[in-house]
Amino acid sequence: MSGGPGPGAPASVRPAPDPHGLRGKAVLVTGATGGIGAAIARRFSAEGARVAVAFRSDREAAEKLAAELGAAEDRALAVRYALDEPGSPARAVAEVEARWGAVDVLVANAVRWGVRRAPGSRFEDVPEDDWLPVVEANLAPVIRTVQHSVRSMRRRGWGRIVLISSHNALGGNPGQEFYGSAKAGLHGLARSLMWDVGQDGILVNVVCPGLTTTERVNSGLPEAVRARETAATPTGRLSDPDDVARAVLFLGSAANGNITGESLTVTGGR
Ligand SMILES: NC(=O)c1ccc[n+]([C@@H]2O[C@H](COP(=O)([O-])OP(=O)(O)OC[C@H]3O[C@@H](n4cnc5c(N)ncnc54)[C@H](OP(=O)(O)O)[C@@H]3O)[C@@H](O)[C@H]2O)c1
Repeated sequence: MSGGPGPGAPASVRPAPDPHGLRGKAVLVTGATGGIGAAIARRFSAEGARVAVAFRSDREAAEKLAAELGAAEDRALAVRYALDEPGSPARAVAEVEARWGAVDVLVANAVRWGVRRAPGSRFEDVPEDDWLPVVEANLAPVIRTVQHSVRSMRRRGWGRIVLISSHNALGGNPGQEFYGSAKAGLHGLARSLMWDVGQDGILVNVVCPGLTTTERVNSGLPEAVRARETAATPTGRLSDPDDVARAVLFLGSAANGNITGESLTVTGGR
């Protein structure tokens, strides 16, 4: 007979439920000061994970979020992470490993936004100084971050990697050739990497948000565009950051047992 408490055991000795198998796991969320990143960090923390809240410029916001998620009890940590500084991914991963022994779950969510091509302008007229940083920052540093994170996942024989792409990488969007190119690279990364890491218990997937109502989107989206986008969405509403976070939580947890190399869109059916 197993020594575990039976169904009639008092609540105090019954183990707390851990449906996602995340209690105590170390999770690195890049871009965690942004709309979607903060929602992801909160979801993992609510499951009992330790969350490294990675920021680039907004240290104050990162420290505030880490305090909310239990920094004082060693359940969260603010970590600097910049896509456009080559040594930054290694330093951020090393900081998490030094504190918690590994990165068990990586959510590569940070984004370097770029200038959107003006309507009526031509693809070939976009200066390289405008587009190259977008392509460079949104692909190679993510690969670098995955490389560093995978080492400790392999050592532990378990890991989850979730790459945040965009619906635009699959469906295309006028004016987003450069951002779309970099994001599309993440799908190629997941499809090939799954072979190299799969037998070490590591699953790698991509989540593709559609237009999502973050603060940045809410403050910059013209009402007419919002109405048009909403009307074109089968569910009749745009995703909010927590819609994306719940998909990431599933793929980035032990509740995901054997799904790898997949792309999941969170678009309300578009
Ligand atoms: N919101 C949408 O409609 C939408 C749609 C499709 C896909 N996505 C994807 O979802 C993810 C999150 O987007 P979001 O809307 O939540 O963005 P957001 O609110 O603008 O937040 C962006 C985050 O990325 C960080 N960041 C900016 N530049 C960086 C750099 N050079 N290096 C490292 N970090 C940097 C910011 O940190 P600091 O503030 O500290 O600088 C912030 O934490 C992105 O991968 C994005 O491509 C979003």
